Order: sequence, then structure tokens, then C-alpha cells
Amino acid sequence: MSADGTRQSAPVVIAIDGPAASGKSSTAHWVASVLRYRHVDSGALYRAATAAALRTRTAADQWTEELVLDAARAVTLSPRDTSFAPCIDGKDVETEIRGTEVTRFVSKVAQMPLVRAWVNRLVQSTAARHDVVVDGRDMGTAVFPDATLKVFLIADPWERARRRLTQHLGRRPTDAEVAEETDRLVHRDAQDATQTVQARDAVLIDTTYLTQPEQVDRIVALARAVTQRGNETSPVDATNG
Ligand code: CDP
Repeated sequence: MSADGTRQSAPVVIAIDGPAASGKSSTAHWVASVLRYRHVDSGALYRAATAAALRTRTAADQWTEELVLDAARAVTLSPRDTSFAPCIDGKDVETEIRGTEVTRFVSKVAQMPLVRAWVNRLVQSTAARHDVVVDGRDMGTAVFPDATLKVFLIADPWERARRRLTQHLGRRPTDAEVAEETDRLVHRDAQDATQTVQARDAVLIDTTYLTQPEQVDRIVALARAVTQRGNETSPVDATNG
């Protein structure tokens, strides 16, 4: 930033992609707060569009792209400290969009090209104004092919299910519960397979045996290395930065 607060260099984009419950959002949020960037959760927009469509009370098997897109007009991102709250009609819907109904139908909504274009536009316009950490399935491929840093997070499905349930239930889940959740996650992975793509220049991190601070530290270190290299090769940006 220059002395008058206007930006002299292109905003930094750190794209974190990966399958369901691989820890993208919580990691992205944490990385953004360490680096003082903003976190943009693209999955939250697909979820908010799904929640808005559910509110129309039209049976999900009757949903058309136009119906979902029309419902999604009520969805906005409202700035909050280092991230954005998904809102419907101006009201924060963070809790509503994590519910089982939304999770059940979100992959169907995410298959709709017009909805994908709407999410991508919203994420790109937000990233044009801030340094961001964005997370989703296709941030490093379809949405930000020139991202500053691309990370692809994976973890063993059983471990992903265990983490997600521990977060939701607030207690240690039983093996039977983890098995059921693993089944749901693997099913959603299959539904999302076409858009869940590891970019050729992404750094793959398997978090199965990493703690969350360890995975955050790795991404922060990578981000610092890449942005440092950018500054070294661009003396104009370095003096303005
Ligand atoms: O947190 P979790 O991995 O369960 O999912 P999410 O990031 O909240 O995304 C919810 C759903 O949105 C996914 O299951 C995908 O169907 C869809 N999605 C997508 O298609 N593309 C993205 N960039 C982000 C999410």
C-alpha cells in the first residue's frame, strides 16, 4: 500500500482447495488472520444459495438454475474482522448454512453453471479489493489460475469424518458415527469430483497426521516465501509494499 492507502501492486491471492471436510475453511481463516489478509469461503456462498433456495419452499427436485439464482440474489457477503459473513436479506446465516438440509442439497446447486458463475464473480470482485485467502474446490484452477500461492489439502476420509463430527458434536464421536459420516463424505466427494481439481502448480498437503497449527504454519511459511520472492523480482512493488 502507498502512503495514501491506495494499492500499488496486485492483491495477493492464496487459494486453498480440497475435498469435503479437509479443513480448508478453518485453515484459510487462521492463515488469513496471521497474514492480516481477508478470508473468503466460496463454499459458504454455495451453501447460502442453497439455504435461500430452501426458503422458497419449492421441492428440491423442482429447483431450476433460474430459481436458485433468483433466490441467491438475497445473498451478500458482509465484512467482519478478517473474513466475510454470508447473509440472506442482510442477516448472518453462518449457522443455518452448516445444517444437514443445506449439506444434503448443496452439491446439486454447485452443479449449476449459472450458480458457479455467480459465486466466481462475487469471489473475484472481493479479491480485487483485498489480499485474500480463498478456499473451495476450484479456486486455484477455474477461479484464480494465476493465484500467488495454491495449496491442495487432503486427508484420510475417516480422519476428515472424525474431525467434522468432533467439531459438530463437541465430543468424541463413536466409531459407528464416524463410519456413517465417512460414508456421507465419500458420497459428497464423488458428487463434487468434477470441480475438485488440484492445480498442476498447487502444493499438496496431507493433513491426516498434522495438527491444525502445523498445517497453518506450513501455509504461512509458503505464503511468506512466495510473496518475498515476488518482492525480490519486482523492485517497484518492493519499494511500494
Ligand atoms: O466445508 P465442506 O468441505 O463440507 O464444504 P464447503 O467448502 O462448505 O462446500 C460446500 C459444497 O459447495 C461442496 O460440497 C461443493 O458441492 C460446493 N463447492 C463447489 O462446488 N466449489 C467450491 N469452490 C466450493 C464449494
